[in-house]
Parts: sequence; structure tokens; C-alpha cells
Amino acid sequence: MIALLASIGFMFAVVTFLAGFRMVRRADHQAEVLMHRVNGYCTITLYLVLASVSVAKNFGALYLAAWIIGFILHMMKVALARTKYVMRYGSYMGAALLITWLIVIFTHLPS
Ligand code: HEM
Repeated sequence: MIALLASIGFMFAVVTFLAGFRMVRRADHQAEVLMHRVNGYCTITLYLVLASVSVAKNFGALYLAAWIIGFILHMMKVALARTKYVMRYGSYMGAALLITWLIVIFTHLPS
């Protein structure tokens, strides 16, 4: 169950990341902006579901703190997306999220 949620979440993170790059390169991109938003919010929702299931299963102060830090990272990307700096730094923040999903989340899932 947890591995399935994490895999779907990671898939969404990858798709959002790639769509983010496609989107910033195109001039007529309303549909791509919408897709990126939908994908992005799906990624964040899956992250929250995964965090709740994992924390319920394996409660600990440090463990909870780590999930909260990951959530703050996601929120920082959304906050950044709403500023004019997103074109310059969006890719770094997106890459940070992807690495979070790939390394931090995958190697610390409760079994
Ligand atoms: C896993 C990686 C990513 C996630 C989860 C993500 C998530 C999001 C979300 C949720 C929004 C909508 C924010 C709002 O409601 O205003 C957004 C907007 C945006 N993102 Fe991303 N993003 C990711 C990667 C990227 C990358 C790699 C780029 C660019 C290189 C990028 C560029 C943008 C831009 C330019 C917007 C603003 C779109 C607009 O309203 O015109 N994102 N992102």
C-alpha cells in the first residue's frame, strides 16, 4: 500500500517536473500551465496521503518532523511559483522536490 502510493507520487513528481520545463519554453501554453498545476497539486496531495499513512504506522517526533520539512519544501515551490522568480529558480526547486521523492522518501518508507 505504502510502496504503491509512493510510486504513484513519484510518477506524478516526474511528470510535473518534465511538464514544468515544457511549459516555460512555450509561448502559447495555457493548457500546459493547467496540466502542470493539476499534476503539481496531485503530487502534493499524494505526498500528504503518504505522510499521514507513514506517520500513523511509524510514529516518532523526528519522523514527523522529516515529513513536515518535506511538505514545507513543496509549499516553497508553490510560493515560488507565485513570484516572478519562478522562471529563474523553478527548475532548482523542482529538482530538489524530485530528489526528495526519489532518495529521501523511497529510502525511508516504513515497511
Ligand atoms: C516536482 C516538481 C514540481 C512541482 C510539484 C510543481 C508544482 C507547481 C504548482 C502546484 C504550481 C501552481 C501554483 C499556483 O497555484 O499558482 C506550479 C506553477 C508553476 N511552476 Fe511548477 N512544479 C514543479 C516543477 C517545476 C519546474 C521544473 C518548473 C520550471 C522549470 C516549474 C515552473 C512553474 C511555473 C513557471 C509556474 C507558474 C505557472 C503560471 O501560473 O503561469 N515548475 N508548479
